[in-house]
Amino acid sequence: MSAPLIFPSILNADFARLGEEIAAIATADGIHVDIMDGHFVPNLSFGPSITETVNRLSDQTLDIHLMIENPEQWVEQYIDAGGDIITFHIEATEDHVALARKIRGLAAKAAFSVKPGTQIEPYLEDLAEFDQVLVMSVEPGFGGQSFMPEQLDKVRTLRTYIDENNLDVIIEIDGGISADTIAQAAEAGVDAFVAGSAVYKFGDPAAAIAKLRELATR
Ligand code: DX5
Ligand code: ZN
Repeated sequence: MSAPLIFPSILNADFARLGEEIAAIATADGIHVDIMDGHFVPNLSFGPSITETVNRLSDQTLDIHLMIENPEQWVEQYIDAGGDIITFHIEATEDHVALARKIRGLAAKAAFSVKPGTQIEPYLEDLAEFDQVLVMSVEPGFGGQSFMPEQLDKVRTLRTYIDENNLDVIIEIDGGISADTIAQAAEAGVDAFVAGSAVYKFGDPAAAIAKLRELATR
């Protein structure tokens, strides 16, 4: 398996010190940017202009997680704001293949996410249209929730399908990833790990990233 990717979620950073908080995660593999619209999820975060600020403060890959309705109407703005990987929710769109093609046509990487209650099987056949797939291991909307280990069944299904079909698709997981949970996710076949509170809650983001990386590599 390839080296694990660690994507801290900027949602959990102190926005009064955004520049420092971004500098503190320079050893990460990218920055996960949680976009919430207060409709698709019962919480609001920020939009394209803050995303653009994050992009200006960093030279890292921006992994944009759109927890919004009508993602079709917004992907271009998030790509213009610096998004490198654009993840929309499969529950929020009627034509996920068309949206993936639109994202790739704008020279970004395309990804879809499934909420805990959404099955992965109906979408396996379309995986070649995507660069990444995001398995939610909490209900989207808030940082700091508990990891749902049963979601790892989806990871195992994806790992088997991707390997058997020789696909170039990254499996990402998001929600409740910490030193206590990352090893089991790695074991199930996750490539990319989002971590919010585990990176930002304990005062030393670089040390937290190193620890998570080590636990995911074993
Ligand atoms: C939840 C977000 C997550 C969240 C992760 O809706 O998509 O990215 O910020 O935070 P932790 O790691 O604290 O669960
Ligand atoms: Zn997220």
